Amino acid sequence: MQFKDLADLLAGQGFVAAEDEAQELIAACASPSDLASMVSRRLAGEPLAWITGKVRFCDIEIRILPQVYVPRWQTEGLVRRAIEIAASVNLVADICTGSGAIARVLSLAYPNSHVVGCDSDANAIECAGLNGVEVYQGHLMEALPGSFHGRIGLVVSVPPYVPADHLRFLPSGTADYESVGAYCGGEDGLDFAKEIISQSTRFLIPGGKVLMELGHGQADALAEFAMSEGFRCEGELLDDEGDLRGIELTFRSSATKSG
Ligand SMILES: C[S@@+](CC[C@H](N)C(=O)[O-])C[C@H]1O[C@@H](n2cnc3c(N)ncnc32)[C@H](O)[C@@H]1O
Repeated sequence: MQFKDLADLLAGQGFVAAEDEAQELIAACASPSDLASMVSRRLAGEPLAWITGKVRFCDIEIRILPQVYVPRWQTEGLVRRAIEIAASVNLVADICTGSGAIARVLSLAYPNSHVVGCDSDANAIECAGLNGVEVYQGHLMEALPGSFHGRIGLVVSVPPYVPADHLRFLPSGTADYESVGAYCGGEDGLDFAKEIISQSTRFLIPGGKVLMELGHGQADALAEFAMSEGFRCEGELLDDEGDLRGIELTFRSSATKSG
């Protein structure tokens, strides 16, 4: 199939970036029959990155294995802030690292820093390893070595944070293919976010930061919880359209925990 025919086919099926996708599929295929099979997978709604095996994130190419959460452009603002903070930090941990995209971007920005990731999912662990990330498998920060206690300067995370009763609003490609475990953060969406904040108190240096992606309406409740755990809330991260994308917290010390 030629580029124009493929772009027209995808556009006709409602793919908004039809030309870009056609280019990526043609570049990734090994033969005409391979292309035909890739196109039918895409038309069925499978994420493009699972088919081509890669995605661009923060201007670098990230390898993606099937079943692994595909990093989103909406996370790039959080990563830009993480890059600013990481300039003065020796040890960085990307919790719920998925493909390892955030950890990979940070380690390329600071080759002399120690940047690690962790995730509970075996496919994610394999994928992050392919992306060159030092990665640990387990539940949130329990996966990290005890030797990191009191040494981390930045915890960055895109945890599952979609409230359970909002899962039905996810786009169909997401809902049909990606694991609910990558999205669902419990009833109010904050189960993982709160646990990471609590666990961080063992790992952070005083003055260390937590940067976390959040959804609409979640910042106030999380900031209040974080303050009770000994953090100061530095503010919300907003995108160009003013939508909430995350929160920035500074760890004062466990001794300042309230309650
Ligand atoms: C929304 S994805 C974010 C992935 C990656 N940080 C990114 O932005 O592309 C959430 C990730 O959390 C992982 N996850 C879910 N439950 C977890 C748990 N209990 N412990 C560690 N990771 C978990 C999932 O496997 C998934 O990779």
